[in-house]
Amino acid sequence: MERIPILALGSTGKTIPALGFGTAAYPFAGSETAKGSILEAFKLGYRHFDSAALYNTEQTLGQAISEAISLGIIKSRDELFITSKLWISDAHKDLVVPAVKNSLRNLMLDYLDLNLIHFPISLKPGQIFPFSKENLLPMDIKSVWEAMEECQKLGLTKSIGVSNFSCKKLEILLSTAKIPPAVNQVEINPLWQQKNLRDFCKEKGISITAYSPLGGKGTIWGTNRVLDCEVLKEIAENKGKTIAQVCLRWVYEQGVSVLVKSFNKKRIEENLGIFEWKLSPDELKKIDQIPQQRGYDAYHFISDQGPYKSVQEFWDGEI
Ligand code: A2P
Repeated sequence: MERIPILALGSTGKTIPALGFGTAAYPFAGSETAKGSILEAFKLGYRHFDSAALYNTEQTLGQAISEAISLGIIKSRDELFITSKLWISDAHKDLVVPAVKNSLRNLMLDYLDLNLIHFPISLKPGQIFPFSKENLLPMDIKSVWEAMEECQKLGLTKSIGVSNFSCKKLEILLSTAKIPPAVNQVEINPLWQQKNLRDFCKEKGISITAYSPLGGKGTIWGTNRVLDCEVLKEIAENKGKTIAQVCLRWVYEQGVSVLVKSFNKKRIEENLGIFEWKLSPDELKKIDQIPQQRGYDAYHFISDQGPYKSVQEFWDGEI
Protein backbone atom coordinates (compact mmCIF):
# COMPACT_ATOMS: atom_id res chain seq x y z
CA MET A 1 0.00 0.00 0.00
CA GLU A 2 1.36 3.38 -1.05
CA ARG A 3 2.05 5.90 1.75
CA ILE A 4 0.87 9.32 0.69
CA PRO A 5 2.74 12.29 2.23
CA ILE A 6 0.78 14.85 4.22
CA LEU A 7 0.94 18.64 3.98
CA ALA A 8 0.01 21.43 6.38
CA LEU A 9 -3.61 22.55 5.99
CA GLY A 10 -3.54 26.35 5.79
CA SER A 11 -2.89 27.84 9.20
CA THR A 12 -5.20 25.39 10.96
CA GLY A 13 -2.46 23.26 12.54
CA LYS A 14 -4.08 20.27 10.82
CA THR A 15 -2.88 18.30 7.81
CA ILE A 16 -4.17 17.20 4.41
CA PRO A 17 -2.94 14.23 2.35
CA ALA A 18 -0.90 15.46 -0.63
CA LEU A 19 -2.83 13.29 -3.08
CA GLY A 20 -6.59 12.88 -3.08
CA PHE A 21 -9.20 11.08 -5.10
CA GLY A 22 -11.72 13.14 -7.13
CA THR A 23 -15.27 11.87 -7.54
CA ALA A 24 -16.72 14.27 -10.13
CA ALA A 25 -17.89 12.66 -13.36
CA TYR A 26 -20.41 14.09 -15.78
CA PRO A 27 -23.37 13.50 -15.95
CA PHE A 28 -23.29 14.09 -12.21
CA ALA A 29 -24.43 10.85 -10.60
CA GLY A 30 -23.24 8.22 -8.19
CA SER A 31 -22.66 4.79 -9.69
CA GLU A 32 -21.51 1.28 -8.89
CA THR A 33 -18.37 2.06 -10.92
CA ALA A 34 -17.68 5.08 -8.73
CA LYS A 35 -18.23 3.07 -5.55
CA GLY A 36 -16.01 0.21 -6.76
CA SER A 37 -13.30 2.71 -7.68
CA ILE A 38 -13.45 4.37 -4.26
CA LEU A 39 -13.12 0.95 -2.58
CA GLU A 40 -10.16 0.18 -4.81
CA ALA A 41 -8.62 3.55 -3.88
CA PHE A 42 -9.00 2.75 -0.14
CA LYS A 43 -7.19 -0.55 -0.70
CA LEU A 44 -4.35 1.16 -2.56
CA GLY A 45 -3.85 3.76 0.19
CA TYR A 46 -5.81 6.86 -0.86
CA ARG A 47 -7.25 8.54 2.23
CA HIS A 48 -8.33 11.94 0.89
CA PHE A 49 -11.61 12.02 -1.05
CA ASP A 50 -13.21 15.00 -2.71
CA SER A 51 -16.94 15.29 -3.23
CA ALA A 52 -19.53 18.06 -3.62
CA ALA A 53 -23.27 18.44 -3.31
CA LEU A 54 -23.17 19.18 -7.06
CA TYR A 55 -21.56 15.88 -8.05
CA ASN A 56 -24.25 13.64 -6.50
CA THR A 57 -21.45 11.41 -5.25
CA GLU A 58 -21.80 12.08 -1.52
CA GLN A 59 -24.09 9.06 -1.04
CA THR A 60 -21.82 6.81 -3.09
CA LEU A 61 -18.77 7.94 -1.13
CA GLY A 62 -20.67 7.43 2.15
CA GLN A 63 -21.67 3.90 1.14
CA ALA A 64 -18.10 3.09 0.12
CA ILE A 65 -16.80 4.38 3.48
CA SER A 66 -19.21 2.27 5.53
CA GLU A 67 -18.50 -0.78 3.35
CA ALA A 68 -14.74 -0.26 3.68
CA ILE A 69 -15.07 -0.03 7.48
CA SER A 70 -17.25 -3.12 7.73
CA LEU A 71 -14.86 -5.07 5.45
CA GLY A 72 -11.87 -3.91 7.53
CA ILE A 73 -10.25 -2.11 4.55
CA ILE A 74 -10.04 0.98 6.73
CA LYS A 75 -10.20 0.91 10.51
CA SER A 76 -12.21 4.03 11.14
CA ARG A 77 -13.56 7.16 9.55
CA ASP A 78 -10.86 9.18 11.37
CA GLU A 79 -8.23 7.80 8.97
CA LEU A 80 -9.93 9.68 6.14
CA PHE A 81 -9.90 13.27 4.92
CA ILE A 82 -13.32 14.00 3.41
CA THR A 83 -14.06 17.21 1.52
CA SER A 84 -17.42 18.39 0.23
CA LYS A 85 -18.64 21.63 -1.29
CA LEU A 86 -21.59 23.92 -0.83
CA TRP A 87 -23.68 24.16 -3.98
CA ILE A 88 -24.33 27.76 -5.09
CA SER A 89 -28.12 27.61 -4.56
CA ASP A 90 -27.28 27.04 -0.87
CA ALA A 91 -24.81 29.95 -0.81
CA HIS A 92 -27.25 32.09 1.20
CA LYS A 93 -26.60 32.69 4.88
CA ASP A 94 -29.58 30.72 6.27
CA LEU A 95 -29.15 27.79 3.90
CA VAL A 96 -25.51 26.95 4.61
CA VAL A 97 -25.90 25.03 7.89
CA PRO A 98 -28.86 22.94 6.60
CA ALA A 99 -26.94 22.22 3.39
CA VAL A 100 -23.91 20.93 5.28
CA LYS A 101 -26.17 18.80 7.46
CA ASN A 102 -27.66 17.39 4.26
CA SER A 103 -24.17 16.58 2.93
CA LEU A 104 -23.43 14.79 6.20
CA ARG A 105 -26.67 12.80 5.93
CA ASN A 106 -25.74 11.79 2.38
CA LEU A 107 -22.25 10.79 3.48
CA MET A 108 -23.54 9.09 6.66
CA LEU A 109 -20.83 10.97 8.59
CA ASP A 110 -20.77 13.13 11.72
CA TYR A 111 -18.31 15.65 10.34
CA LEU A 112 -16.51 16.77 7.20
CA ASP A 113 -12.78 17.42 7.27
CA LEU A 114 -13.21 20.30 4.87
CA ASN A 115 -16.19 22.10 3.41
CA LEU A 116 -15.72 24.58 0.58
CA ILE A 117 -17.84 27.28 -1.04
CA HIS A 118 -17.90 25.75 -4.52
CA PHE A 119 -17.95 28.95 -6.62
CA PRO A 120 -17.97 32.70 -5.79
CA ILE A 121 -21.58 33.15 -6.91
CA SER A 122 -25.09 32.33 -5.65
CA LEU A 123 -28.14 30.90 -7.37
CA LYS A 124 -31.82 31.12 -6.47
CA PRO A 125 -32.55 28.52 -3.78
CA GLY A 126 -33.58 25.08 -4.96
CA GLN A 127 -31.95 25.27 -8.41
CA ILE A 128 -29.76 22.38 -9.47
CA PHE A 129 -27.39 21.91 -12.40
CA PRO A 130 -27.96 22.68 -15.25
CA PHE A 131 -29.66 25.92 -14.26
CA SER A 132 -31.02 28.91 -16.08
CA LYS A 133 -28.55 31.80 -16.00
CA GLU A 134 -31.32 34.26 -15.15
CA ASN A 135 -31.38 32.67 -11.67
CA LEU A 136 -27.75 33.59 -10.92
CA LEU A 137 -27.21 36.09 -8.09
CA PRO A 138 -24.23 37.88 -6.60
CA MET A 139 -22.91 36.10 -3.52
CA ASP A 140 -22.84 38.01 -0.24
CA ILE A 141 -19.37 36.75 0.67
CA LYS A 142 -19.50 38.15 4.23
CA SER A 143 -22.72 36.49 5.37
CA VAL A 144 -22.11 33.20 3.54
CA TRP A 145 -18.65 32.97 5.10
CA GLU A 146 -20.11 33.70 8.56
CA ALA A 147 -22.44 30.73 8.04
CA MET A 148 -19.46 28.59 6.98
CA GLU A 149 -17.71 29.66 10.20
CA GLU A 150 -20.83 28.65 12.11
CA CYS A 151 -20.57 25.16 10.56
CA GLN A 152 -17.05 24.85 11.87
CA LYS A 153 -18.08 26.10 15.33
CA LEU A 154 -20.90 23.54 15.39
CA GLY A 155 -18.39 20.78 14.61
CA LEU A 156 -20.08 19.91 11.30
CA THR A 157 -16.75 20.44 9.57
CA LYS A 158 -13.19 20.57 10.92
CA SER A 159 -12.04 23.20 8.42
CA ILE A 160 -13.59 25.53 5.87
CA GLY A 161 -12.43 26.97 2.59
CA VAL A 162 -13.36 28.07 -0.89
CA SER A 163 -12.99 26.95 -4.47
CA ASN A 164 -12.49 28.94 -7.68
CA PHE A 165 -11.67 32.18 -5.84
CA SER A 166 -9.35 34.78 -7.39
CA CYS A 167 -6.85 36.80 -5.28
CA LYS A 168 -9.30 39.72 -5.30
CA LYS A 169 -12.20 37.62 -4.00
CA LEU A 170 -9.96 36.11 -1.33
CA GLU A 171 -9.04 39.65 -0.24
CA ILE A 172 -12.74 40.50 0.09
CA LEU A 173 -13.36 37.36 2.12
CA LEU A 174 -10.30 37.90 4.33
CA SER A 175 -11.37 41.48 5.08
CA THR A 176 -14.28 40.22 7.24
CA ALA A 177 -13.41 36.58 8.00
CA LYS A 178 -12.91 35.55 11.63
CA ILE A 179 -11.67 32.12 10.54
CA PRO A 180 -9.47 32.41 7.44
CA PRO A 181 -10.09 29.88 4.66
CA ALA A 182 -7.87 26.81 5.06
CA VAL A 183 -7.95 26.04 1.34
CA ASN A 184 -8.65 27.52 -2.08
CA GLN A 185 -9.32 24.61 -4.45
CA VAL A 186 -8.55 25.66 -8.02
CA GLU A 187 -7.53 24.31 -11.40
CA ILE A 188 -3.77 23.74 -11.54
CA ASN A 189 -1.80 21.74 -14.06
CA PRO A 190 1.32 22.34 -16.19
CA LEU A 191 -0.80 24.28 -18.72
CA TRP A 192 -2.43 26.47 -16.04
CA GLN A 193 0.13 26.94 -13.31
CA GLN A 194 -1.43 29.91 -11.46
CA LYS A 195 1.84 31.15 -10.01
CA ASN A 196 0.43 34.51 -8.81
CA LEU A 197 -2.51 32.90 -7.04
CA ARG A 198 -0.21 30.31 -5.45
CA ASP A 199 2.15 33.03 -4.21
CA PHE A 200 -0.76 35.07 -2.87
CA CYS A 201 -2.23 32.09 -1.01
CA LYS A 202 1.15 31.16 0.43
CA GLU A 203 1.59 34.68 1.79
CA LYS A 204 -1.89 34.55 3.37
CA GLY A 205 -1.45 31.05 4.86
CA ILE A 206 -4.11 29.51 2.61
CA SER A 207 -3.39 26.03 1.21
CA ILE A 208 -4.08 25.29 -2.41
CA THR A 209 -5.63 22.09 -3.64
CA ALA A 210 -5.31 21.47 -7.36
CA TYR A 211 -8.24 20.12 -9.35
CA SER A 212 -8.08 18.95 -12.96
CA PRO A 213 -4.33 18.22 -12.72
CA LEU A 214 -4.71 16.23 -15.95
CA GLY A 215 -6.97 18.84 -17.51
CA GLY A 216 -10.22 17.12 -16.58
CA LYS A 217 -10.31 15.20 -19.86
CA GLY A 218 -13.69 13.75 -20.77
CA THR A 219 -15.76 16.18 -18.68
CA ILE A 220 -17.86 19.17 -19.76
CA TRP A 221 -15.39 21.50 -18.04
CA GLY A 222 -12.21 19.78 -19.14
CA THR A 223 -9.75 19.72 -21.99
CA ASN A 224 -7.51 17.16 -23.71
CA ARG A 225 -4.76 19.74 -24.08
CA VAL A 226 -2.88 18.66 -20.94
CA LEU A 227 -2.63 14.94 -21.70
CA ASP A 228 -1.89 15.76 -25.37
CA CYS A 229 0.88 18.28 -24.58
CA GLU A 230 4.07 17.49 -26.56
CA VAL A 231 6.45 18.91 -23.93
CA LEU A 232 4.94 16.67 -21.26
CA LYS A 233 4.93 13.72 -23.62
CA GLU A 234 8.65 14.10 -24.27
CA ILE A 235 9.47 14.40 -20.56
CA ALA A 236 7.32 11.35 -19.77
CA GLU A 237 8.98 9.24 -22.48
CA ASN A 238 12.51 10.17 -21.35
CA LYS A 239 11.62 9.45 -17.77
CA GLY A 240 9.79 6.17 -18.29
CA LYS A 241 6.69 7.66 -16.64
CA THR A 242 3.25 8.44 -18.01
CA ILE A 243 2.13 11.97 -18.88
CA ALA A 244 -0.40 11.76 -16.03
CA GLN A 245 2.37 10.91 -13.55
CA VAL A 246 4.49 13.82 -14.79
CA CYS A 247 1.53 16.20 -14.30
CA LEU A 248 0.76 14.91 -10.81
CA ARG A 249 4.41 14.93 -9.77
CA TRP A 250 4.83 18.49 -11.04
CA VAL A 251 1.81 19.68 -9.02
CA TYR A 252 3.09 17.85 -5.93
CA GLU A 253 6.51 19.48 -6.32
CA GLN A 254 4.81 22.89 -6.17
CA GLY A 255 3.92 22.08 -2.54
CA VAL A 256 0.18 21.91 -3.09
CA SER A 257 -2.20 19.00 -2.62
CA VAL A 258 -3.67 17.45 -5.74
CA LEU A 259 -6.92 15.66 -6.56
CA VAL A 260 -7.13 13.23 -9.42
CA LYS A 261 -10.23 11.43 -10.61
CA SER A 262 -10.09 7.99 -12.15
CA PHE A 263 -12.67 5.24 -12.12
CA ASN A 264 -10.22 2.84 -13.76
CA LYS A 265 -8.28 0.42 -11.55
CA LYS A 266 -5.05 0.58 -13.55
CA ARG A 267 -5.03 4.37 -13.64
CA ILE A 268 -6.01 4.70 -9.94
CA GLU A 269 -2.83 2.74 -9.18
CA GLU A 270 -0.73 4.56 -11.79
CA ASN A 271 -1.65 7.92 -10.27
CA LEU A 272 -0.12 6.88 -6.94
CA GLY A 273 3.28 6.28 -8.53
CA ILE A 274 4.59 9.82 -8.12
CA PHE A 275 6.43 9.84 -4.80
CA GLU A 276 9.65 7.93 -5.43
CA TRP A 277 11.23 10.05 -8.14
CA LYS A 278 11.74 13.71 -9.01
CA LEU A 279 11.60 16.03 -11.99
CA SER A 280 15.03 17.39 -12.87
CA PRO A 281 15.75 21.16 -12.93
CA ASP A 282 15.82 20.94 -16.74
CA GLU A 283 12.43 19.22 -16.88
CA LEU A 284 10.97 21.78 -14.45
CA LYS A 285 12.30 24.56 -16.65
CA LYS A 286 10.66 23.05 -19.74
CA ILE A 287 7.35 22.82 -17.88
CA ASP A 288 7.71 26.44 -16.73
CA GLN A 289 7.92 27.52 -20.36
CA ILE A 290 4.69 25.83 -21.50
CA PRO A 291 2.25 28.48 -22.81
CA GLN A 292 -0.49 29.04 -20.25
CA GLN A 293 -4.19 28.59 -20.86
CA ARG A 294 -7.03 28.15 -18.35
CA GLY A 295 -9.03 24.99 -18.99
CA TYR A 296 -12.33 25.81 -17.26
CA ASP A 297 -13.35 29.40 -17.91
CA ALA A 298 -16.57 29.21 -15.79
CA TYR A 299 -18.82 29.99 -18.77
CA HIS A 300 -21.76 28.47 -16.85
CA PHE A 301 -21.66 31.54 -14.61
CA ILE A 302 -21.22 34.28 -17.22
CA SER A 303 -24.31 36.11 -18.36
CA ASP A 304 -25.36 39.59 -19.48
CA GLN A 305 -27.98 39.80 -16.74
CA GLY A 306 -25.95 38.03 -14.04
CA PRO A 307 -23.31 39.17 -11.52
CA TYR A 308 -20.45 38.30 -13.90
CA LYS A 309 -20.79 39.61 -17.43
CA SER A 310 -17.47 38.26 -18.68
CA VAL A 311 -14.93 35.54 -17.99
CA GLN A 312 -12.56 38.39 -17.12
CA GLU A 313 -14.89 39.56 -14.32
CA PHE A 314 -15.42 36.09 -12.90
CA TRP A 315 -11.69 35.50 -12.49
CA ASP A 316 -10.79 39.17 -11.86
CA GLY A 317 -8.42 39.17 -14.80
CA GLU A 318 -6.68 35.91 -13.82
CA ILE A 319 -7.15 34.37 -17.25
P1 A2P B 1 -10.81 7.63 -16.06
O1 A2P B 1 -11.76 7.84 -14.90
O2 A2P B 1 -11.38 6.82 -17.14
O3 A2P B 1 -9.44 7.15 -15.61
P2 A2P B 1 -8.68 15.26 -13.80
O4 A2P B 1 -8.32 14.53 -12.55
O5 A2P B 1 -7.67 16.20 -14.31
O6 A2P B 1 -10.03 15.91 -13.66
O7 A2P B 1 -8.81 14.20 -14.99
C1 A2P B 1 -9.73 13.20 -14.92
C2 A2P B 1 -9.80 12.53 -16.28
O8 A2P B 1 -8.55 11.95 -16.60
C3 A2P B 1 -10.80 11.42 -16.26
O9 A2P B 1 -11.43 11.42 -17.52
C4 A2P B 1 -9.96 10.16 -16.08
O10 A2P B 1 -10.58 9.08 -16.75
C5 A2P B 1 -8.66 10.53 -16.74
N1 A2P B 1 -7.50 9.94 -16.08
C6 A2P B 1 -7.27 9.75 -14.76
N2 A2P B 1 -6.07 9.21 -14.54
C7 A2P B 1 -5.50 9.05 -15.75
C8 A2P B 1 -4.26 8.54 -16.18
N3 A2P B 1 -3.36 8.09 -15.33
N4 A2P B 1 -4.01 8.52 -17.54
C9 A2P B 1 -4.91 8.99 -18.41
N5 A2P B 1 -6.11 9.48 -18.06
C10 A2P B 1 -6.41 9.52 -16.75
